[in-house]
Amino acid sequence: MTSPSAVPPGGTVSDYYSSLGPLLQMAWDDNFHFGYWDGPSDTRSVQEATDRFTDLLIERLRVGPGDRVLDVGCGIGKPAMRLASATGAGVLGITISELQVKQATESARLAELSDRVAFQYADAMAMPFGDGSFDAVLAFESINHMDRPTALREMARVLRPGGRVVLTDVTPPGDGSYQPDDDPAVVTSLTRLEDWPGLVGDAGLVLDELTDVTENTKDTANRMIDGILRCRREFEARHGVSVQEVLDAAKSALPTVPSAGCAIVVAHKP
Ligand SMILES: C[S@@+](CC[C@H](N)C(=O)[O-])C[C@H]1O[C@@H](n2cnc3c(N)ncnc32)[C@H](O)[C@@H]1O
Repeated sequence: MTSPSAVPPGGTVSDYYSSLGPLLQMAWDDNFHFGYWDGPSDTRSVQEATDRFTDLLIERLRVGPGDRVLDVGCGIGKPAMRLASATGAGVLGITISELQVKQATESARLAELSDRVAFQYADAMAMPFGDGSFDAVLAFESINHMDRPTALREMARVLRPGGRVVLTDVTPPGDGSYQPDDDPAVVTSLTRLEDWPGLVGDAGLVLDELTDVTENTKDTANRMIDGILRCRREFEARHGVSVQEVLDAAKSALPTVPSAGCAIVVAHKP
């Protein structure tokens, strides 16, 4: 666990996660993504529901021992380690945050997975890898921080022919309340579900699946608020910074989306 630093004016994605990451770890989980529940009667904990969402994407990757998977926007490495353990594949996680590389690398070492799971700093929109270097690409709730066409072209480039891209994206509420923000300090942008077939095709990929899973992920916001309220005192005592300050800083970096949705996108390189 690291101490949060403030998001400076005009802050980057990396600043945003340096600030919010420690709170997310305490109030949510080391999985920095939505939970997946069957419905109101599903009693899974946040840890179980976020791991379950990882498992749903792992199934779709269809990889096994000897395969090499790129995890684009790997956070602090929990999904990459789960993927490697479940499939036997090797995983390289990339993130735009040096802090996350450090945390993820340490977690892989502690889990004795360093021989098959590694992490490095890289920008997904200009990846330092050769064409066709990976058998599959996972991008779990990260493309919402990127220029989607550029990131998708890069994913298609580093993927071998026949390889699959499995990703999730955050989608705007269906009521039209989301307004794109031109402010460069806003590090997330949303695109509609209907835009995805075009985005995938323009990147030279073939769409295999586009699933709206909002009904399964929509409890995330309420559960996150519960988690924050539960850990508030402990977080403030441990880090010497108020939760409100962290949330205010994060707000300046996020568009106002009270009820964001979630989509799974699966595609392959012909
Ligand atoms: C919501 S977190 C998801 C983390 C992880 N996939 C998970 O599910 O736990 C978004 C991640 O995308 C990464 N990211 C955002 N923009 C990026 C970029 N241009 N290149 C590489 N990683 C990026 C962030 O650093 C962060 O690790």
